Amino acid sequence: MAARKTRNPRVLFVTPEIYPLIKTGGLADVGGALPAALRELGVDIKVLVPGYPKVLAGAKNIRQRCVFHDLPEAKVVRLLSASLPGSGVPLLIVDCPPLYQRGGGPYQDPSGADWPDNARRFALLSRIGALLGGEASPLTFRPDIVHCNDWQSALAPAFLRFMPGKKAATVMTIHNLAFQGIFPPQVFDQTGLPPESFNMEGAEYYGNFSFLKAGLYYADHITTVSPTYAREIQDEPLGFGMQGLLAQRSARLTGIVNGIDANDWNPAADPHLARNYAAADLAGKAADKRALQERLGLAPDPDIPLLGIISRITHQKGQDLLLEIAPRLLDKPVQIALLGTGEAELENGFRRLIQAYPGKVGALIGFDEGLSHLMEAGADLFLMPSRFEPCGLNQMYSQRYGTPPVVHATGGLADTVVDANPATLADASASGFVFAPPTAEAFYACIGRALDAYHDKDIWNRIQRNGMTRDFSWQKSAEDYLALYKSLFQ
Ligand code: ADP
Ligand code: GLC
Repeated sequence: MAARKTRNPRVLFVTPEIYPLIKTGGLADVGGALPAALRELGVDIKVLVPGYPKVLAGAKNIRQRCVFHDLPEAKVVRLLSASLPGSGVPLLIVDCPPLYQRGGGPYQDPSGADWPDNARRFALLSRIGALLGGEASPLTFRPDIVHCNDWQSALAPAFLRFMPGKKAATVMTIHNLAFQGIFPPQVFDQTGLPPESFNMEGAEYYGNFSFLKAGLYYADHITTVSPTYAREIQDEPLGFGMQGLLAQRSARLTGIVNGIDANDWNPAADPHLARNYAAADLAGKAADKRALQERLGLAPDPDIPLLGIISRITHQKGQDLLLEIAPRLLDKPVQIALLGTGEAELENGFRRLIQAYPGKVGALIGFDEGLSHLMEAGADLFLMPSRFEPCGLNQMYSQRYGTPPVVHATGGLADTVVDANPATLADASASGFVFAPPTAEAFYACIGRALDAYHDKDIWNRIQRNGMTRDFSWQKSAEDYLALYKSLFQ
């Protein structure tokens, strides 16, 4: 056996989203922050992203590196190098205007429908990732590891597996197993993958072609974004059909909890707040509450508990549970502030609530990064009743902002929030409120428990400070990824 190399591995990190250039959810936050944290540990890392208009407009120092001709997905594809604004993380951009230069979002058109050519768009991202991990790469940068994220990059491990010659090892990270990139079997024929891989032992999923299954099957290692979710997905219902494969590969499946970008999410220096504050002096938080109330048309009451939500408004996120308990909840002296977009029916439910409770319910149905920071600061309590949550970031942001979260005991929520009870108050670990099962009743009761604590200023202060002083930085998780890379790199 070859001796283990002592140098750090070189890593190509492939992601369909990266903050601050393009974001629909937490994957972008991870794509922006994890590579920066790995770089601080001495890893030579580059991030491969599609050349959406926002990426081309926002990336720094763009230069052309090479051109690929006659790929199955496109005649001409330019590969650009650039750097990420802020951290300066090196980027590689897949520039293919027919596939990526358009309005709308990364996955959907302006009306919210999936782009009809998503299979081709993300097969290309995966293909370039694989080409750069293989012997024939035109770059001098030769990654030891190709680290893929979600279905949009999940064909790379399959392409690499069937590529001849020396090649990178692959890591496939699951951020959300509910999204699998499933396409009709004809799409498979266009990829050039060998027919034998269109099989139950491969990329086939009940007669269709599953990008994610290909990644899970062919990657050298699978990770997901919390240890609890890593266990949950090996079984029904959260395995979403992949539980058999994941249980079979469990020795190659690790849960590593996400961190947060402690610079972007720092109440002491956050430019989006009306006033900054820190654990030692929370006075500024009252000004942020007032600013949030003004912004969302809520009554300017400093004492009324203000419950905040920032979320995709979906069944996964349990927003229907909130709508179900809202009338009962709003009988009490509370205000609700909501920021989110999602399923039309649930969005309309919240619109009706705003009308029915003027001054008590305020919402922005849309996406607004700046407001999300003010919400974390201005709310008193943060609600996250997700039915499942691979990791979740807002519950960590809210703890950092002294806004204790109310969460369902699932996935990363279970791993990052410590329920307040006599024992955890005594050992100064209590940082929020945790409930199970994910029912309206249990959620309502848990909010009741949180409101009781809110009205005891001493207890509330302790819970706030416990959360604010926890270490959610990326350092520890980045070290876990580095150890994993090293174990795959021989
Ligand atoms: P998910 O990726 O499943 O949506 P996460 O909790 O991991 O959930 O991450 C969501 C990220 O997206 C957080 O950074 C959150 O603040 C942000 N976010 C979600 N909805 C909105 C919105 N409507 N406006 C601004 N930021 C949002
Ligand atoms: C997904 C998950 C979320 C996780 C994020 C980043 O969007 O739904 O729980 O925090 O990815 O890993």
